[in-house]
Amino acid sequence: MKILSIESSCDETSAAVLAFDGDGKATVLSNIVASQIDIHARYGGVVPEIASRAHAEAVSKITYDALEEAACKIDDIDAVAVTAEPGLIGALLVGVNFAKALAYSNKKPLIAVNHIRGHIAANYITHKDLKPPFLALVASGGHTSIIKVSDYRDMQVIGGTRDDALGEAFDKVARVLGINYPGGAELDRLAYKGTPCIKLPSAAIHDDTLDFSFSGIKTAVLNYINSAEQKGERISREDVAASFVEAAVSSVIKKLDDALKRYPELDKIALAGGVAANSHLRAALEKFCRERGVALYMPELKYCGDNAAMIGSAAYFEYVAENFSDTGLNASATADI
Ligand code: KG4
Ligand code: ZN
Repeated sequence: MKILSIESSCDETSAAVLAFDGDGKATVLSNIVASQIDIHARYGGVVPEIASRAHAEAVSKITYDALEEAACKIDDIDAVAVTAEPGLIGALLVGVNFAKALAYSNKKPLIAVNHIRGHIAANYITHKDLKPPFLALVASGGHTSIIKVSDYRDMQVIGGTRDDALGEAFDKVARVLGINYPGGAELDRLAYKGTPCIKLPSAAIHDDTLDFSFSGIKTAVLNYINSAEQKGERISREDVAASFVEAAVSSVIKKLDDALKRYPELDKIALAGGVAANSHLRAALEKFCRERGVALYMPELKYCGDNAAMIGSAAYFEYVAENFSDTGLNASATADI
């Protein structure tokens, strides 16, 4: 059976076709991602109205390109899936309305997918052996949560950021270092050239929750740079990058350690979201999980950032549960999981 999926929650228009075998294992037949990053970079962040317009211009062509690359016609598709929450409302509505029209006019079931569940499901594409229960860390430009995944469709947020998302903190620190939006990946590379010699606060909140506050590290970096400028001292961009990455990564590991202690029955961690591409985080988690005797799952890099294949992967479980939507489906900017 085949699912055509569409993702338009932020600044990537994407469409994918996934084929599932009898055991529910996915093969990605196509996964086309049209990034708007170049359009938004000049504004230093995503401009919602521009994002919606760019999705509207791209969505039809991207979808038919995905079908063509998968060597499929719409008749070969068993269901149309779309990201319906959370995200930029105008951006989501473009994908949702397109998917509704496509499903209705071709008499296909319509499946609404939560974007965060999509990020988690990216792991099932890469790791055919991964099965719940496990702990998931979803870290992207808009979200940072620790999630207890009890079953494919049964999950609960057990911790998360109280302010900035981890990717947002990366992008803001990158910006003060003169790196263009979104600077997370470039900051990742710059950190290898420096040493983590600047003392920064932990983002792991000192209480018994599994929550983070990444705005404190970001403010500490800004204060460090401002105070050095006032004293006429030269800063090392590389050392700032290395110190920020070290503080951010160790904060994440601290709360994951707490989560494992709280749920000793869980012995698997899955990483997800755009920041799952961070090489320092991947390496530190590999070491941490090895020492803790916990299995670690990470999506291939191409499935970390926003893409429609992950939406198709999550949609499969809704298809099996026959959780279909109709033309009354609406998008929602905010949603938990
Ligand atoms: O999941 P995603 O593509 O979009 C959202 O749902 O937000 O995540 C994008 C975020 C951006 O903040 C970007 O800077 C960050 O992921 N990112 C990284 C890396 N690659 C992407 N952050 C740190 N290191 C990376 N290598
Ligand atoms: Zn995302």
